[in-house]
Amino acid sequence: MTAETKTETTEFVSWFRSVAPYINAFRHKVFVIGFSGEMITDSNFVHFIHDINLLASLGVRLVLVHGARPQIRFRLDESQLETPTVMGMRVTDPAALQCVKESVGRVHHEIAALLSMGLPNSPMANAAIRVTSGNFVTACPQGVIQGVDLMHTGKVRKINAPAIHSRLEQGDVVLISPLGYSPTGEIFNLTMENVATETAIALHAEKLIFLLDAPMPSVNESIAFPRELTVAESKALLKNNKTKPAIPDNTRLSLQSATRACELGVARAHLINRQTDGVILQELFTHNGIGTMITQETLQALRKAKIEDVGGILQLIEPLEAEGILVRRGRELLEIEIDRFAVFEHDGVILGCAALYPFPEENACELACLAIHPDYRDHGHGNRLLKYIENQATTMGIHKLFVLTTRATHWFIEHGFSEVTPAELPKTKKGLYNYQRRSKVLVKQL
Ligand code: ARG
Repeated sequence: MTAETKTETTEFVSWFRSVAPYINAFRHKVFVIGFSGEMITDSNFVHFIHDINLLASLGVRLVLVHGARPQIRFRLDESQLETPTVMGMRVTDPAALQCVKESVGRVHHEIAALLSMGLPNSPMANAAIRVTSGNFVTACPQGVIQGVDLMHTGKVRKINAPAIHSRLEQGDVVLISPLGYSPTGEIFNLTMENVATETAIALHAEKLIFLLDAPMPSVNESIAFPRELTVAESKALLKNNKTKPAIPDNTRLSLQSATRACELGVARAHLINRQTDGVILQELFTHNGIGTMITQETLQALRKAKIEDVGGILQLIEPLEAEGILVRRGRELLEIEIDRFAVFEHDGVILGCAALYPFPEENACELACLAIHPDYRDHGHGNRLLKYIENQATTMGIHKLFVLTTRATHWFIEHGFSEVTPAELPKTKKGLYNYQRRSKVLVKQL
C-alpha cells in the first residue's frame, strides 16, 4: 500500500466511524424535507434523490414535501392566464386551479419516478424505495384578503398524522404535494412551506429541513448568517430585518416556518442552500453542519462535569498530553477528580474543560487542565471557562488563583494573571513542582 492510499484508508475509516453516532440517532426518526419546484429542474436533483435514498436505507422515516411554483407559473403563462397576487399570494381562480393541478401532478410523478430508480452501478442499486401519497392534507380557503377573494388559494387546516405515521412505520417514503382537499371536496393551492411545517408539527418530527434556492444573506459586511439560532434569536433576526442584502422572500418564509415548527415541538429545523451537491449529508452527518439550524434552546452549556463526561474530556486532553502541553492524567485519576472539572459542551460534545483544585489552608486555588478543542479556539470559550472557574473560587471564599503553564503564559497574562516564582506556590503544591518541566507560575487576585 502506498503512503497515499494508506492515509486515504485511514481517513475513510475514521470518517465512517464519525458518522456512526448520527446513524444511530436518526434511525426511525421522522424527518420532513421541503424543497422547491426550482430544485426539481436542477441537474443536481438526481443526486439529491440519491441522498434521500441513503437516508431511507439508514432507517430515517422520510416525508418529502415538494413545491411547484415555477412549473405553475410556466403553465399559467402558457395558457395566457393573468392571476393577480395579494401579499405575495397568487389568486387561484378555477382556470388557474386547472394549471395548478396539471403542474403539481406532473412534478409529483416525476419525483416518484426518480425515487423508483434502481439501476445497477448507481447509488440507487437495490434501493426499492416504496413511495406513498394520499389525502393527508385537509385545507381551507385563505378567504378574502385586502378585499380580494383568493378563491382556491388555501392553507393547511389539518394533517392526518396517524395515516402518515402508519405509512412511515411500514417503511414507505411519503411524498406530499402542495395541494390540500376540503371536506366539501374542493382542491386548494397551498405553499410547500405551509404544508411541510404543519406536517412536521403534526408528526412531532425530529427534523424539518428546507432546501433553499439561494444562500443565506450576511448579517452585515463582516458577519455571516448565524449557523445556529434559538427560536428567540430567529424571531429577533426576522424582526430586525437588518441583513444585507435583505433576506429574500422565500428564505424569510422558510425561516419563519422553521421557527414556528421549533416553537411547536419539532426538535430541530435546518435551512440549507441546495446549490452544493450533498448538502443534506453534510448538514446531517457532521457536528457543525453546513446550513443554519434552529432549535428551541441553545445547544451550548458551561457546567460542572459529570462522570459520563470522562470519555469526552479524555478525547479532548489526550492529544494535548501527548504534546506535553498538559500533564498526563489517566482515566482513573480523572474519574476520581471529575467533581473538580467544569466543561464547555456543544450539542452533546465536550469542546472545553478546566479544573479547580482548592488549597484552603493557604486561601488559594489552582486552575488546571484548561483545554479547548483546536477547532473551537478564538471564540471566547477559554475566557468563559476561566470566568466560570473564577466564580467557583470566589463562592468558596478564595481570592487567589494560580496556574502552571508551559505554553500559554501570554494568554493568562492577557487575562489578568502575573508571573511569580515557584516559591510562591502553596506549600503542598510546591512539594510537587516539577523542576524539569519548568512550568511558569502565574497568579491572579480575584
Ligand atoms: N448534524 C447535526 C444534526 O443534524 C448538527 C447539525 C448542525 N448544523 C448547523 N447548521 N449548525 O443535528
